[in-house]
Amino acid sequence: MANMAQQPADHPAGQPREQWSTRTGFLLAAIGSAVGLGNIWRFPAVAYENGGGAFLVPYLIALLTAGIPLLIMEYTIGRRYRTSPPAALRQMARPAEVLGWWQVAICFVIATYYAVIIAWAVRYVGFAADQAWGDDPEGFLFGTFLEAADEPGFVSGYVSGVVWPLIAVWIVVLVILAFGIRRGIEKANKLFIPLLVVFFGALVIRAVTLDGAAQGLNALFSPDWSELSNGSVWVAAYGQIFFSLSIGFGIMVTYASYLRRRADLTGSALVAGFANSSFEILAGIGVFAALGFTAQSAGVPVDEVATAGLGLAFVAFPTIISEMWAGGLFGVVFFVSLVIAGLSSLISIVQVVVSAVQDRTGMHRIPAVFGVGGAVAIVSILLFPTDEGVYFLDASDHFINQYGIALAALVGVVVVAWVLRKLPELQRDADATSAVRLGHWWRICLGLITPLVLGWMMIDSLRKEFDENYAGYSTDFLLAVGWSVAIGALLVGVVLSLIPWKAAGGGLIDLDMETAEEYESHHHKDDPGGKEDR
Ligand code: ALA
Repeated sequence: MANMAQQPADHPAGQPREQWSTRTGFLLAAIGSAVGLGNIWRFPAVAYENGGGAFLVPYLIALLTAGIPLLIMEYTIGRRYRTSPPAALRQMARPAEVLGWWQVAICFVIATYYAVIIAWAVRYVGFAADQAWGDDPEGFLFGTFLEAADEPGFVSGYVSGVVWPLIAVWIVVLVILAFGIRRGIEKANKLFIPLLVVFFGALVIRAVTLDGAAQGLNALFSPDWSELSNGSVWVAAYGQIFFSLSIGFGIMVTYASYLRRRADLTGSALVAGFANSSFEILAGIGVFAALGFTAQSAGVPVDEVATAGLGLAFVAFPTIISEMWAGGLFGVVFFVSLVIAGLSSLISIVQVVVSAVQDRTGMHRIPAVFGVGGAVAIVSILLFPTDEGVYFLDASDHFINQYGIALAALVGVVVVAWVLRKLPELQRDADATSAVRLGHWWRICLGLITPLVLGWMMIDSLRKEFDENYAGYSTDFLLAVGWSVAIGALLVGVVLSLIPWKAAGGGLIDLDMETAEEYESHHHKDDPGGKEDR
């Protein structure tokens, strides 16, 4: 309890901070945030491209040495400072606030295009029912549905077929956020996660019983051990873990800021980390079993039907759906799963932006959700449902992942571990309430292994960027839509951190520490035994 006296104040503007109602509620929200589009379409393709079964070795090492340790670090920071990333980092050291706003800007960018993929999936629920793509899923996706321009360039048309599902996605997300942490995010995840488990479970069972499933699973799991000596395979494994666990972009700090003081952190991180990876591996099994089926029907090897990213969900899957018995139902369940998984992640991404502005200005939730979340929605609706949208999405996704999430994670661990030397303090904090104690491994992973691997990732990735233009796009296009987005997010972080903090009433926000007595009286009146905390 001694460290309680050093805990910072409650909500900076003096409003009581919301809390998750139970540990399960928090865990479901954290798992909902982690399990997203990245698990269903990204993981299977990344695993396949990087050594198949052998990829699981670097993947599990990345999970244990970086994923879970960083998750614990972010949970601990969030719970300790009980505020969103900018204010939390500011309380660690004034200049570190830049990092917090940088993460908020990254979330802003990701949310604008993440919502669009969910909107596509919404339309594909309907398309799957009557297999609207006919015998040309690729032509249907890019031509008929997205009306994509032949080349990246200036916007010359708006695509109404994407606008309305996108507006619907944003309305659902903002309404859930408007209900707040307990009544909105927690309730939504209590519905979403069980639904996702049932739908996705049914999908995987159906997939593995298809003819040719074994061929697909062989392709995924036959280890190509020689790939383990390839640096980029390790880079891909770490990259996948960051995106998939939602770490490095402020989400987990934000979600943990609504935890009770006595919540078990390390145990929760272990549960969330392993749940996410189990889901991911299950997704790999389901997707590859289904690809094996298509490959067998077409009499081609699996690598001819396995494509990365969007292609997998919106091109390869429709092909599978058209070929199988009762494919329409399988397709509807697949795209509904994608929508649910995407929504629970998008909610968490937008909450980072909303709560950062709330914590800074003392704004109330509803105006913050509709003002700030509304601004994200407007940018998303203006830019992406256009004939250039798919190119904007592809380039901004690549650059914000590499030079947003991964770079911010690298800067974050270096600042916390080496510049501010906060790891021992954070470790004591986590250990004070966790059933599992952190050993030296935690500090070694965060202080040494993660910065080294991430640093190497960054150099390797930059080298490739300068060797060859991403996806063969022109340099002008990449400067306008890729580099400017990644560098812009950092600059926005710097600018926002320079604006002086004002409370809603006009005075400077009080960032004083809360005393142990104040803490007890604020937080344990209703739950003296702290039973709900664990
Ligand atoms: N963690 C989220 C995903 O996997 C962002 O999609």
